[in-house]
Amino acid sequence: MVEPPKPINLMMREVAHGSPDYWATVALRDVVLRQPLGLQYSPQELQAEADSRHLACYCGDELAGCLVLRPAADGDVRMRQVAVAPSMQRRGVGAALVAYCETLARELGFRRMVLHARETSVPFYERLGYLRHGQRFEEVTIPHWSMAKTLAT
Ligand SMILES: CC(C)(COP(=O)(O)OP(=O)(O)OC[C@H]1O[C@@H](n2cnc3c(N)ncnc32)[C@H](O)[C@@H]1OP(=O)(O)O)[C@@H](O)C(=O)NCCC(=O)NCCS
Repeated sequence: MVEPPKPINLMMREVAHGSPDYWATVALRDVVLRQPLGLQYSPQELQAEADSRHLACYCGDELAGCLVLRPAADGDVRMRQVAVAPSMQRRGVGAALVAYCETLARELGFRRMVLHARETSVPFYERLGYLRHGQRFEEVTIPHWSMAKTLAT
């Protein structure tokens, strides 16, 4: 019989752009989001996210997941670059990270979270209350959908 995964204690915090903790999130994003597509981050791309908020989730000392939050127009805020370490996937890390990000966005006064979801992760966001809209489009060589969620106050 297969044992169910053990519950894990998670700790969330914001990390500063350019700090060693930030570079650890870039390394995780590279492994989870870019290498499988044969792509890599350019220095310009990483510099352009200097004024974004960078959120990290730890299990003990281990970086379990991360995402990037960037203000958009009209009271919207964009969730980007959601990545969970392969060994930690399907254990609630992604859902906990998104919940933390939504709380921060609400505290900052944003009214709606928007994102470009990889088609393979659309069911994950739907479970968390995000709705798909518009047409399927291509980004970083793969199909994506626009999704959004109103942030209740
Ligand atoms: C997509 C991703 C962020 C989800 O994080 P995770 O920690 O694995 O997800 P969780 O364990 O928190 O899952 C929450 C719920 O969504 C479900 N779920 C997670 N990934 C799913 C997927 N790809 N398809 C369908 N359901 C999914 C889980 O089964 C769980 O459902 P439950 O509440 O009924 O138990 C993570 O798997 C990942 O990093 N994937 C690779 C990179 C990627 O696609 N990032 C998103 C870019 S838009």
